[in-house]
Amino acid sequence: MNKNQNFWIQFRDWTAFGISHHVVMLIYALFLRNCVPYFIPELKWEYFFIRIFILHFVYVIFIHVTRMTTYPPGPPPMAIFGNSPFVNILKPEKTFLQYRAIYGPIFTLHLSQPTVILADYKSIHTALVGNGPQTSGRSSNESFVLFTGDRENGDGVILAMRQKWKDMRHEISRFMNKWYGAPMDELVLTHTNALENELVKVAKTQSFVDLRDPLAGAIANVIQQITIGRNYLYQDQEFQTQLRDINAVVKEIMTAEVFFVNCYPWLRFLPEGILRKWTNYKKSGFRLQQWFRTILEEHHINRHQGDFMSHMIDLQESKQEQFNDLSIILTCGDMWTGGMETTVTTLRWGLAYMLHNPDIQTKCRKEIEEVFGNGLPDMSKMNQTPFVRATLSEIQRLANVLPWAIPHKTLEECNIGGNHIPANTEIIPALGAILNDPDVFASPDKFNPERFLDEEGKYRVMEEFRPFGMGPRVCLGERIARTELYLIFCSLVQNFRFYLNIDDPLPTLERCIGGITAPPKPYATRVEYLGNRSVY
Ligand code: HEM
Repeated sequence: MNKNQNFWIQFRDWTAFGISHHVVMLIYALFLRNCVPYFIPELKWEYFFIRIFILHFVYVIFIHVTRMTTYPPGPPPMAIFGNSPFVNILKPEKTFLQYRAIYGPIFTLHLSQPTVILADYKSIHTALVGNGPQTSGRSSNESFVLFTGDRENGDGVILAMRQKWKDMRHEISRFMNKWYGAPMDELVLTHTNALENELVKVAKTQSFVDLRDPLAGAIANVIQQITIGRNYLYQDQEFQTQLRDINAVVKEIMTAEVFFVNCYPWLRFLPEGILRKWTNYKKSGFRLQQWFRTILEEHHINRHQGDFMSHMIDLQESKQEQFNDLSIILTCGDMWTGGMETTVTTLRWGLAYMLHNPDIQTKCRKEIEEVFGNGLPDMSKMNQTPFVRATLSEIQRLANVLPWAIPHKTLEECNIGGNHIPANTEIIPALGAILNDPDVFASPDKFNPERFLDEEGKYRVMEEFRPFGMGPRVCLGERIARTELYLIFCSLVQNFRFYLNIDDPLPTLERCIGGITAPPKPYATRVEYLGNRSVY
């Protein structure tokens, strides 16, 4: 980023700041000019305007000075919108890197409230690992409290805080331990086999298809088996409804309407239909909650199914208060949501990159065949496939599936890189800024798996490569995700060739509009079954 660009960004921000406050004044003036003569004919409207102008001016100065002395530096916020109009909603990491060049790696943006952005490895590590207990809170925004109903401690696991979160996280880890290793590999391979059966049908018809639904079906069935002991056929109507609802929730949460409700919570009392996206977000979220509630009721009747929900019902007997029905529903929902969109999105990006780079697809297949032959892929041999590992890391780096990460909140005041951060401040550990940091990954926009290999061709572990986050809130499904990504990717590339005909469009490699995850724009592929291993 050169000095010229930095100057123009600052110029733009200050201009927008000035103009927006003048517009607010103009609105006041118009309002007073029309209302004052109507209600108090003997008074001139200018009389009120001068006072409001002075009050507003003092307010702006006061807020600005308070902000500068309370939070790390950052661009001046516009009236009403804060800094949000200048954040690239599709690629926030680009905006974060731009501001990093001006204000340093720790800066403040006014989104729905003052939010501290951490935009390099050192500051994220200091915040999440060095100050883990202080920064392990979650947002109490209206869009979250709506579902948990507990502003102080949140609920479930993703949005839980303090002791409630510690207890829930502990129970999930305790339960997951019995799945790790062979049972998890077996579960993932079983569902990969079902996915491959679908792909064989596609290969037979030689059609040009979007694989989003079959991939979502396979990944969903893995996490559903673990959390609620269920499997669904991909075409099942109930399952399709859940997919639509989860898509709506992760998409609508980043819309302007939800943003404004978070800024101005009174907006949620507006009649239904005015804020249609907010209404859709709310309804889809509650429908999902209701789905988990129905499953919980069934579990109460038919206990001990060996899944996470049954495990939690067992605990309810001794700890009724802590693990109540709503906590169980929300936690299962969190594992389901957390485990679905992220992994499916990563695999979709993976296939898109394989279509763009057929030579890399071939190289991966060659390595997989050398190590596994026609047999099933096996996690214990992962180190023998460094190129496949490097390719998966490069896919994850560029996919950056949670470009906003999951925002944290400080539970106590703390110091991050010399900056004092007050309690109750929202923090975004911008993992995407690290994954796209040119100081860490040369030519970061380029797809280059080789960057994860050393001179001897072995997989190179890079400390800065942390797509699953770090510290006490690190992703709870990291092991599941790594197993799924490796086994599904290896199995698919071993058995199928993904290709395009000469007139077929290449995937754009652009992200879809909005959403908390960053999926690629819909694209289709052709599939050739290589017959290396029977998938029936
Ligand atoms: C490629 C796949 C995945 C990626 C890139 C990913 C990434 C992340 C990230 C960045 C966080 C936030 C960490 C933080 O707040 O600092 C997170 C949290 C979480 N993830 Fe994942 N994740 C993936 C798959 C999964 C899977 C398969 C599950 C299934 C259980 C899962 C469950 C969760 C949960 C429950 C949390 C919240 C943890 C907490 O708040 O204590 N994730 N994930």
